[in-house]
Amino acid sequence: MRDMMKTKQKKHSTSFSAAENGKTLHKNLDFTATEQYKLLRTNLGFTLPAGEKCPVIGVTSSIRGEGKSTTSINLSYVLAEKGSKVLLIDGDLRLPSVAKKMELDQKKGLTDFLMGQGGNLEDFRSPLLENWYIMTSGTIPPNPSELLGSSRMNALLTEFRKTFDYIVLDLPPVNLVSDAMSVAGYITGMVVVAREEYIEKKDLKACFRQLELSNVKILGCVMTCAKRKSGSYGKYGKYKRYKYYGHYGHDAESQKESGKGGKP
Ligand SMILES: Nc1ncnc2c1ncn2[C@@H]1O[C@H](COP(=O)(O)OP(=O)(O)O)[C@@H](O)[C@H]1O
Ligand SMILES: [Mg+2]
Repeated sequence: MRDMMKTKQKKHSTSFSAAENGKTLHKNLDFTATEQYKLLRTNLGFTLPAGEKCPVIGVTSSIRGEGKSTTSINLSYVLAEKGSKVLLIDGDLRLPSVAKKMELDQKKGLTDFLMGQGGNLEDFRSPLLENWYIMTSGTIPPNPSELLGSSRMNALLTEFRKTFDYIVLDLPPVNLVSDAMSVAGYITGMVVVAREEYIEKKDLKACFRQLELSNVKILGCVMTCAKRKSGSYGKYGKYKRYKYYGHYGHDAESQKESGKGGKP
């Protein structure tokens, strides 16, 4: 692994452990693969716009259960581990899971901030790393799409961007609801999670088409539950840029320019 920079951050000793054999970030996360998420971190360095202050990285997938939340948690963790000040936000306001996965009992969350009753950001600091902040969803609203896509969300992200180096936004799946697309204009780009032997090709195509139509920059694709192929990944999810990536280009603009619309 190229990226073996040691963390300078103080790790707090709690039940969280980034831990045994380097694969487990937290016991509630059935699956983590630290090395592969570090590779994702490295590769994002190539696809994120150079020099952008605090990129906002959305994480989505075609359908549920593909590993969005797991990826969001692990990605934000490895970004923080390298010294950046990182905020993970559970933006899946329909089926939030970050609080449960990380055993957090936050009274307030994203929706409270959106309603102007958020409170102190320091309350969201993780016990694992002092520069890792985790904001759970807050009270589930009746209108998640409207709330996520509201000008308040934009204003909130603009405010947070002044404080953090990265924001990772765990979003609902693209093919089921419009929530993920409602933040399209407020994020730097999207990481798409695809679960092998779970997602159908047509669903993945529909997901990319949606992102393309909303002018979302695709930062990369994480393939979860990838089967061992070369022997190097084993049962752990591997990161790679989506194999059909070339057909879609980096974003809809380059798409239009290149005249590629195509089928994966
Ligand atoms: N890379 C991976 N490889 C294998 N299983 C994974 C991976 N990422 C997540 N999982 C498992 O898949 C299930 C769904 O993950 P989750 O992150 O909750 O998905 P989502 O947020 O997309 O609904 C969980 O049981 C999780 O442990
Ligand atoms: Mg989830």
